[in-house]
Amino acid sequence: MAKLPNIIEKDRSLWKVLVFAIRESIKGSPGYSVARYIFATINATLIFVQFGGLAIIVNEFTRAGIQNAHLNVIVGAFALIVTGTLVPSIVASLSNFVFSVQFNDMQKHIQKIIFSKMDSIDIATVEHSEFQNMFDVASNRGWGAMTNSVNTVSNSLGNITALVIATVSLIVISPIVLVVLIASAVPTYFLEKKNAERTAELWKASSEQRRTWNSKSEPINKKDKLIELKNFNLVKIFSRKWQEAIGAYYDKEKKLDKKTLGNEILGDVLLILGYSISFFLIILKIYEGGLLLGSLLFTFTVISRFQSAIQALFENFGRLNEQKKYLNTFMDFTEIKPLIVSGDKLLDPHAPITIEFKNVSFSYPGTTKKILKDISLVFSPGENIAIVGLNGAGKTTLIKLLTRVYDPTKGKILVNGISLKEYDLKSWKECLGILLQEYAIYSEETVEENIMLGDTSKHDSKFVIASAQETTIADVIVSLPEKYNQKVGTEFKGGVEFSKGQKQKLALARTLYRNAPIMILDEPTASIDAVSEDTIFKHLKANHTDQTRIVISHKFSNVRDSDQIILIQNGSILEQGSHEELIGLNGTYKELFELQAEGYR
Ligand SMILES: Nc1ncnc2c1ncn2[C@@H]1O[C@H](COP(=O)(O)OP(=O)(O)O)[C@@H](O)[C@H]1O
Ligand SMILES: [Mg+2]
Repeated sequence: MAKLPNIIEKDRSLWKVLVFAIRESIKGSPGYSVARYIFATINATLIFVQFGGLAIIVNEFTRAGIQNAHLNVIVGAFALIVTGTLVPSIVASLSNFVFSVQFNDMQKHIQKIIFSKMDSIDIATVEHSEFQNMFDVASNRGWGAMTNSVNTVSNSLGNITALVIATVSLIVISPIVLVVLIASAVPTYFLEKKNAERTAELWKASSEQRRTWNSKSEPINKKDKLIELKNFNLVKIFSRKWQEAIGAYYDKEKKLDKKTLGNEILGDVLLILGYSISFFLIILKIYEGGLLLGSLLFTFTVISRFQSAIQALFENFGRLNEQKKYLNTFMDFTEIKPLIVSGDKLLDPHAPITIEFKNVSFSYPGTTKKILKDISLVFSPGENIAIVGLNGAGKTTLIKLLTRVYDPTKGKILVNGISLKEYDLKSWKECLGILLQEYAIYSEETVEENIMLGDTSKHDSKFVIASAQETTIADVIVSLPEKYNQKVGTEFKGGVEFSKGQKQKLALARTLYRNAPIMILDEPTASIDAVSEDTIFKHLKANHTDQTRIVISHKFSNVRDSDQIILIQNGSILEQGSHEELIGLNGTYKELFELQAEGYR
């Protein structure tokens, strides 16, 4: 498949990605994010206060002797110890609380970003594997990467504060120790960075593979699909395929983990070496009389804290390179522009609408095969149009162009003489009542809500009932214990399950409830029994005379009295006209019609 022009992979700097994470964290949870950053900074300073107090006490005893130590110095230092111990534990509890609120806020925020992006981009993009690979990383790793980055930033604020205090102390106490400590910690950053990048690359490179194993586990986990697997005794086979797919990935991960382990051990050895040399240098200083015992104690704290802070910083920033890659992909995702761009002209749904296809040709994005070839058509306001043809002829594709799921590759669709592309997309959709072959019934919503979702701008229970009556589902609904308030989906408490045909009736009722000026029905009765089908078509003809109706149907008896019948074959219009005209042509339509009629004799 060719690449989609609207999917652009950028390589952003760590800095840019972090700024994005912090900005979004503050947008998603302003108060709690700022509080977290402040708490982290406060706590980092307090350990020095604690050990500073201890050092003062020991120094005072060493300097003045046990008997002569100044009580006010001892008490003052003790107060420092108490403050340095108590405040951090309180702040830590506060931090935990703030963290869990911020965590939830951010999850909501990120999900909102994802949902609104899914609203703004088009199906053409969504169904492309390139998008799916990006979406896999963005949706599965984006949120985690965001929280991880925000955690790292908040921890780093603490560590940077600690590092500054420790550095200043070490410059005063022993600059050479400072140099040794820095030198021993630097490799940690590069080792962690390498590990992190490798992990992220593996994740990104294997999203197709991951989706492969999901495609094997999903049918086992979803009730609708599990039925078929069981009927064909396929659960074991799918389970095996899943294990094979996941096993191959885990093998790669294991190899990577081994490399990571080696790097981590190397980093630790270097750090301990740095620590030992520093320790040795400080002991030497005591021998030379350059340091009091209390200061020795403080210096050890400073060294430990310096080392743990610099190690944590380097480790965290090294690891951030993994999160960076996920966030980078998440940012790519948020920047996807739709292929189908909305215009700004508004349509009046109450004025008559004329639709014209002018030499329209179409290939699906990323493919070259022409699915529609040079289609020219006119649909007048209030006209009844039937589209017929064999499977794969291009009927649904034609509807997808009209509903702007896709735009034509060549030619134009005109609405009231103006290109469809110039109209506001939402305004155009308001003119359409669409029932596709793949329709949705929404679980957990009631029957009434399922119908009312057809038009959220009105709340008309009477019209819900009228629509349900037209599609013959009303009889079923009134026999339910809760009637129109019955929840749909047995997986929810009190929910009921509809049969396939009943579901189609419910979905059709939703489309009728919309009462749009243009009704588009793609095989609307494919799963519906013959008696109901007959009633539904009678209702459609009798009650919807002022709406333009475009119906795709395989049953010619349903559509023979349409104003215009269009027979599509291999993406081209083969025959076109009223039933009588087409029979008069003595061509394919007549042949297909008679074949069906034969079957009923
Ligand atoms: N999303 C898609 N991407 C690529 N090809 C598609 C897609 N959807 C349908 N096609 C192809 O377009 C052709 C016409 O499909 P369609 O319009 O759905 O036929 P029908 O006349 O049965 O409704 C088929 O050959 C199908 O394989
Ligand atoms: Mg179809």
